[in-house]
Amino acid sequence: MNRLVVVSNRVADLTRTAQSGGLAVGLADSLRQRGGVWMGWDGQTLKYEDQPEPRIRKIGTVTQATIPLTEQDYSEYYLGFANSVLWPLFHYRLDLVEYKTVFLDGYRRVNAKFADALTSILQQDDIIWIHDYHLIPLAAELRQRGCTQRIGFFLHIPFPPPEILAAVPRHRWLVECLLEFDVIGFQTHTDQGNLQHYVEDHLGCRMEADGRIKIGKREVIAGCYPIGIDVDSFVEMAERPNDEVSIETQRREILGRKQIIGVDRLDYTKGLPDRLRAFARLLELYPEMRKTVALMQIATPTREEVGAYVEIRTELEALSGAINGRFADFNWTPVRYIHGIVPRDALAALFRASQVGFVTPLRDGMNLVAKEYVAAQSSENPGVLVLSKFAGAAEELHEALIVNPYDVDDMARNLCHALTMPLEERKERQKALFARICKHDAKDWLNAFIAALEKGETKYAA
Ligand code: ADP
Ligand code: G6P
Repeated sequence: MNRLVVVSNRVADLTRTAQSGGLAVGLADSLRQRGGVWMGWDGQTLKYEDQPEPRIRKIGTVTQATIPLTEQDYSEYYLGFANSVLWPLFHYRLDLVEYKTVFLDGYRRVNAKFADALTSILQQDDIIWIHDYHLIPLAAELRQRGCTQRIGFFLHIPFPPPEILAAVPRHRWLVECLLEFDVIGFQTHTDQGNLQHYVEDHLGCRMEADGRIKIGKREVIAGCYPIGIDVDSFVEMAERPNDEVSIETQRREILGRKQIIGVDRLDYTKGLPDRLRAFARLLELYPEMRKTVALMQIATPTREEVGAYVEIRTELEALSGAINGRFADFNWTPVRYIHGIVPRDALAALFRASQVGFVTPLRDGMNLVAKEYVAAQSSENPGVLVLSKFAGAAEELHEALIVNPYDVDDMARNLCHALTMPLEERKERQKALFARICKHDAKDWLNAFIAALEKGETKYAA
């Protein structure tokens, strides 16, 4: 078996029990099983440039190789091009794009830095798997340094249609960089189709039905490889007794109350304000629901130095306060808003103790929370997943109640449907959903992608 070298901007801390971000969670789950090297940013920022030699640390089956960024890199590459240009744009939020030429310079500079650091640890028979929007130019940088290994890329976030992508300066260069990989993986067929439209409209290439794109003498595969979770370990965590959660659950059961749960990074793509509005609308449209249900929203801060993230936090705090002010009673708080990160075992127990999983992103690559909620349910008395049609997961999880996250009334009606759904229907939906998350779990995701990457017979000829 060839050594697998994974590269991403963010490297999960494999020694910690709490983790936020689908890339860190999905990759940690799958890489632990296969073993390999994981290279990325160590989360530190330095005032001045340092040696690009990675720092090596072995944690179980995984060797982590990390490098720092300078303050300038952090500002221009991470906060700038990655999170003020590509992130909003790839999530269809042109209104939030803030472009500066120095951001693009920083993006190219850091990709070159990653390539230098990676070249110093690569071995001839490695296969390289690069992740997410931060590192699109990395294959091109590696090829320039003489790297001939197979290189794959997986995009964890959506890939937008050409008319949206065209708003990013140098969009053609960006797609040409993407096409330097041997295999390009997307979460959904929609994303794959969007690349097809781009290459056909802007580059005059054809994508075959099996995802092959011919570019000169090379052939690139663009495929759909939906990411999954480690279902077995999540089930095990959800079934493990958790005293704090069970005391709280018993109290709710005595009072005959149900719980709706939302868990997210505090990101504007997650549809959090409209989620809270939908809950308030539920209480308005169905007054009999008052005092019988509460919404627990757990949201961990993220990228707080980008303006759009500060606004969303303020808006949410005001909204949850307003809903509680309007509906709360001395012995019932409708919204419990927790601004923080919860360890994964507690999260699994909380999902199991919640009658509705409320997952309403405005746009999302996959959304692992949806899969985790399903994994955590008991088969005898499962809860119901209410899922946005704009989450990648909706392409797979058909038996969820699928909602439009822009339509507050639609979400409120579906919440009511979920809260009153008969046991038989809940069981049927859960059985089908559970089978789906097992079919595409973390291990299958990695194996399917690596198989495609290893399959190509032609090594890259410089
Ligand atoms: P994204 O990658 O955009 O953050 P996903 O839903 O795909 O969205 O993945 C998020 C991951 O991070 C999930 O595994 C989820 O359980 C975890 N997570 C998100 N927010 C929190 C939180 N507040 N506390 C604990 N875990 C969280
Ligand atoms: C999403 C992205 C990841 C990113 C994560 C957390 O999952 O797809 O690439 O790592 O969010 O964001 P952060 O900016 O903290 O790394």
